Amino acid sequence: MYMDDLNEPMKLNCGQRLMNKIGLAPLTNKQSNEDGTLNDREFEWLKMRGGHYGLISTCATYVSKDGKAWEGQLGLSEDRHIKNLQRLTDEIKMSGSKIITQLHHGGDKAVFSNDKISCYDDTDIEVRNASKEELQEVMNNYVLAAKRAEKAGFNGIEIHGANGYLFTQFLSHNTNKRNDEYGGDIEGRSRLLLETVEAVRRNVSKNFMVNVRISPVNTYSLKGIDIEETILVAKWLGELNIDILSLSLREYNMETIFEDQNYPVIQLIRDETNDNMKIATAGNIWSRADAVNAREIGADMILLGRAGIVHPDWPTVSSKMNFKPYYPKWDPAIFQKVGVSKVFHNYLLKFPGLVVGGAEKR
Ligand SMILES: Cc1cc2nc3c(=O)[nH]c(=O)nc-3n(C[C@H](O)[C@H](O)[C@H](O)COP(=O)(O)O)c2cc1C
Repeated sequence: MYMDDLNEPMKLNCGQRLMNKIGLAPLTNKQSNEDGTLNDREFEWLKMRGGHYGLISTCATYVSKDGKAWEGQLGLSEDRHIKNLQRLTDEIKMSGSKIITQLHHGGDKAVFSNDKISCYDDTDIEVRNASKEELQEVMNNYVLAAKRAEKAGFNGIEIHGANGYLFTQFLSHNTNKRNDEYGGDIEGRSRLLLETVEAVRRNVSKNFMVNVRISPVNTYSLKGIDIEETILVAKWLGELNIDILSLSLREYNMETIFEDQNYPVIQLIRDETNDNMKIATAGNIWSRADAVNAREIGADMILLGRAGIVHPDWPTVSSKMNFKPYYPKWDPAIFQKVGVSKVFHNYLLKFPGLVVGGAEKR
């Protein structure tokens, strides 16, 4: 059996060291104040996980108001967002964990904008192809938000290139209809993401973590994301010396066909990217055995989404013999104990089969 080294440290390209190989995945919780500032509920939720997870991520955080995608979303679009975040980063760093924020632009899902931009035109959903000047502005907003994140004391940022938002829309050959250098083949469709990563890297300190999250294949409702193209994007991101490439998978051991054979997605990306960045994955990891298995097939570190909600101390307790993951459906009576507020609880009710009293599985 593969050795369980999950609680051992891991060094990143930027020189920082995570105290273990277990991260809290970015989890939208809709708890922020209306103006995008962090409030006590969100502070408490993340604080409770400090000292356990080697890497803690905030939820998806908007880089500009016109990229905001839901009520209660955290923001880093203005300097006034910094102050409350400083309190959070101080607290988490004191616990020994590292903390990053996930920088996000909704693209065609930016419902708070009355002029949504993406890489195609659709009058039905009122979205239009962005001009090149607007793309420059998007990149600039990522840079400004990353600089604010550094000022707020974060150890790094993650660029949200996954789950159907702006960068995924550009990467997907289904949605990207541009015929300039930001569309066409995968080199063109990944240009916005790669240029943003480069611009952020140039404008933050050398020892600041720069990570990227992508959806490697068609998952959830995403279409137009091929493994062959993802491997190329992953290679290019590795050449830019990012610290962690985070794979947003529904199942960590999901397999895909490559050159007529089935392989786990993680293994393919690991084998094709020359080890020049760390690879993290989320996706239905609940037990220590799941996590060790993810390491075995090629992940350098694992991320917990749902298990991280009900187990604030998973990294500390999961290797104990008597540890039993709390699989859904969850009894909401436990929420207070694990730092889930009423607002977050209400949001979780929308996920089919997750919480007693919530949406049912179809
Ligand atoms: C309540 C909830 C909120 C999420 N919010 C985000 C988010 O803000 N950004 C993101 O990249 N993924 C988000 N995800 C996806 C998770 O980070 C993770 O990839 C997914 O839940 C799969 O991991 P799991 O099987 O351990 O839950 C969210 C998932 C859930 C359940």
